[in-house]
Amino acid sequence: MTHDLMFQEEIRRAVARAYSAIPSGGGEAVTRRSYSAEELAELPAGAVAWALGVGDPIPHAGLRPGEAVLDVGSGGGIDTILAARRVGPEGRVIGLDLLDEMCARAREHARAAGVEDWTEFRRGEMEAIPLADSSVDVVVSNGVINLSPRKSRALAEISRVLRPGGRLCLVDLVVDEELPPTVLGSTAAWAGCVSGALAESVFRNKLRKTGFTDISIGERLPFGLSEAALYPLFTPEVIEQMRELLPAQRHENVATSVLVKAVRPLA
Ligand SMILES: C[S@@+](CC[C@H](N)C(=O)[O-])C[C@H]1O[C@@H](n2cnc3c(N)ncnc32)[C@H](O)[C@@H]1O
Repeated sequence: MTHDLMFQEEIRRAVARAYSAIPSGGGEAVTRRSYSAEELAELPAGAVAWALGVGDPIPHAGLRPGEAVLDVGSGGGIDTILAARRVGPEGRVIGLDLLDEMCARAREHARAAGVEDWTEFRRGEMEAIPLADSSVDVVVSNGVINLSPRKSRALAEISRVLRPGGRLCLVDLVVDEELPPTVLGSTAAWAGCVSGALAESVFRNKLRKTGFTDISIGERLPFGLSEAALYPLFTPEVIEQMRELLPAQRHENVATSVLVKAVRPLA
């Protein structure tokens, strides 16, 4: 148990260090893969520059004017801003991030986007979300759950803050086959969303055990070494190491990005 706690703390610190150290996000190379031209036209340059997600959950979240949304691991605020446009000023969107500097950046981007009056960024951890029970209609997230060393706890927290009947809509990476131990032990590969990724069946089971219903996992897209190279979390050396350690047929399929939807039941 003590060993596990130390391991969890080590991962948490490594993730915080890695995201504090990057000079920018993935920029247009990342957003071009996932966001529509219409969405990109709604975003200030800073939010695009700091994009670090692995997909785009917002068009799938069915957001309606007036809804309250939580964006878990909001980073530079790209999805928070897109969600804020959909819920409008009668709704509200809270971005939650581990790092103060990410929250500060996201605030600046929300201001540039003109949605600052109904967005808010809070420093906090997905494993202890600083929100009241049943306080939001929808939780969105993009490339974040995989970073948690306590994923069941993070999902339980998401369920707690959702109102009964509330929806979860996220994009994350999953892995089909176990990665080599050196990759699994690489902090860069963990911070890059690869080493901490669950198998799809494990993710589904965790959601079910948390009490979620109407679980769907789809929109599968391969995430390979060419995609990893777009993110500042991976150095050229780490990419090279993965190329050497992984069989050739895995080079363009290290992990899979998936859209995960689920509902907190009414009772
Ligand atoms: C891969 S980036 C994704 C950022 C954003 N969702 C996007 O699409 O650009 C992961 C973000 O999650 C944050 N993060 C990492 N661990 C976290 C935790 N335990 N709780 C909350 N945020 C966390 C990081 O600081 C980082 O901003």
